[in-house]
Amino acid sequence: MRSWPTKTLALGGDYNPEQWPRPVWDEDIELMRRANVSFVSLGIFSWSWLEPAKGEYEFEWLDTILDKLHAGGIAVDLATATATPPPWLSAAHPEILPVDVDGHTLWPGSRQTWCPTSPVFREYAVALTRQLATRYHEHPAVAMWHVSNEYACHNLPCYCDECARHFRTWLQRRYPGLEALNDAWGTAFWSQRYTDWGQILPPRRSTTFNNPTHVLDYKRFSSDALLDHMRAERAVLDELSPGVPVTTNFMTLDHFRHLDYSQWTPTVDVVSTDHYLVDTLEHPRAELAYSGDLTRGLAGGAPWMLMEHSTSAVNWQPTNHAKDFGQTIRDALAHVARGADTIGWFQWRQSRAGSEKFHSALVPHAGADSARFREVEELGRIAGRLGELVGSRVESRVAILHDYQAIWAAEGPCMPSSELDALTAAQAIHRALHDRGVTADVVHPSADLTAYALVVVPQLYLVTDEHAAAVAAAAEAGAEVLVTYFSGISDENDHVRLGGYPGAFRDLLGVRVEEFFPLGPDETVALADGTGTWWSEDVTALPGTDVLTTYAAGPLTGRPAVTRRAGTDGAGSAWYVSTLPDDTALGALLDDVLSAAGVEPTVAGLPRGVETTRRRSDEGSWLFLLNHTDAEHTVAATGYDLVADAPVDGSVRLAPGGVAVLRED
Ligand code: GAL
Repeated sequence: MRSWPTKTLALGGDYNPEQWPRPVWDEDIELMRRANVSFVSLGIFSWSWLEPAKGEYEFEWLDTILDKLHAGGIAVDLATATATPPPWLSAAHPEILPVDVDGHTLWPGSRQTWCPTSPVFREYAVALTRQLATRYHEHPAVAMWHVSNEYACHNLPCYCDECARHFRTWLQRRYPGLEALNDAWGTAFWSQRYTDWGQILPPRRSTTFNNPTHVLDYKRFSSDALLDHMRAERAVLDELSPGVPVTTNFMTLDHFRHLDYSQWTPTVDVVSTDHYLVDTLEHPRAELAYSGDLTRGLAGGAPWMLMEHSTSAVNWQPTNHAKDFGQTIRDALAHVARGADTIGWFQWRQSRAGSEKFHSALVPHAGADSARFREVEELGRIAGRLGELVGSRVESRVAILHDYQAIWAAEGPCMPSSELDALTAAQAIHRALHDRGVTADVVHPSADLTAYALVVVPQLYLVTDEHAAAVAAAAEAGAEVLVTYFSGISDENDHVRLGGYPGAFRDLLGVRVEEFFPLGPDETVALADGTGTWWSEDVTALPGTDVLTTYAAGPLTGRPAVTRRAGTDGAGSAWYVSTLPDDTALGALLDDVLSAAGVEPTVAGLPRGVETTRRRSDEGSWLFLLNHTDAEHTVAATGYDLVADAPVDGSVRLAPGGVAVLRED
């Protein structure tokens, strides 16, 4: 695999020089050097500035800035510039515009206004990619190709007639015939039987709920359609620019669930992602940690690239809070703690005009004479010292399963609770582990699960037979397995597995559930040792299964809430939790599960609010300690703190919001 050629912890970001007069470019490069910025992503939204009219190209400005960046020692992640079509293209070909669920065209005027399956858009996008690859593949500044930008960010799903045609072709590849499709979609229900492929449409807005498997297949198709588009651009780069690594920036954020990235990773040489803290979440920092662990999972444990985050406020939340001073450094290092070797921001210089003029940047409106830029410079010095850990991997013995297709199915129409978020259980368990100083890899069920001491299966509603067998095999190989409520319910066509829930995991867990008792956001249920939220079930523990906790109120009083089936012949135990216990009860359960798995925290007795991970390579190990609290904390540790640039002998003092990265002895 081709790799991003970084030997240092690379800092950088999106650079949009076309927004600025040329004298600013020289100042930019000067300031980049001051801040130890060693890469920029160039040209992401530059199509109309590179091709102002069909087949007419203006490359002089790009030639000039590439030369200047190279002279300044700054590597370029060069975009194919195809993220947003120029106005002339959509004016000439309005058929490239995406269409929403109600059949309304999404007009030009913002960005990413293109339909994923449009052959016309693809032809023009590939032609521009060809021009850029031909002209720049040997430019010494070009260290990587950045294909498009955040695929699906604004243009998925598209429900246009072209997508309808492609969807039918996709279905014909997936199913051997219409009969198989009718069976998979359960069209015996509500008179939906198809007798001709031409009758099939995207799941546009109907009178009421659409067929869930139809909706699920449309999500699968939409993700595949964009992947197909990426492959078309990538094929040009492979032909004309072999040897230069290729990426596209994923969005492994909680709220972005349009693409099944587990299918995308073979098409990128370097896994890169964008992450923005979302203030409106209850636990924004835990979400950042989950996103980092998910990105690492997608990268197969290898170091990854944070393509974008923000130095301070964004521009798209209801209130765009500024970050605390010091938080720019802490947030960047929080990603490094989870395996990032490259730290990028949106964007280098804060725009004067346009929709993102109030989005923070490395160089703010106030200029380089600002606290924020000084913080960036400080981070640049720290990054220089952290170069030694580049290439090391984050240690983890715990896997949490994450499958976009299971999430899509769980988010489908007409579920037992539309208020139950598909990631609530995963994130609650991840957060509880992280509070205990235990790092988890967030991985797809097809990962090698036998490598873990503990496998967590959080609300894996839809599961294939193959993935269910992989979970059972991990238990057989000795892993403890913890399964939560509403898992193993349906097969890959979203048909319910009969005979009692949780169908696919019933034997492994030794439980049988006859009925769900979901709880609304304001409801709870008493447990013998705490409180359950979001969900409850009528669980029967089968012979050989121990009941660890029972329901203590309501219709399920006295019925099992948490169970454990001990493994035999070296197999791990299978634990089932049929509700989401409150933090204390969940923590106590996890303490038991971790102890059974023999998983120790990275640092014992960690103060609450201090995050820790360890990265390791053949050359050594590095301990990360991030204090997310307003209080000072002292943690027992020994080594050399690369942030403070000072030795640590026995204990490290973490200032409020402070970070230490210790090279361990
Ligand atoms: C990303 C996008 C960037 C910028 C940023 C603002 O989604 O890739 O171009 O818009 O958000 O937070």
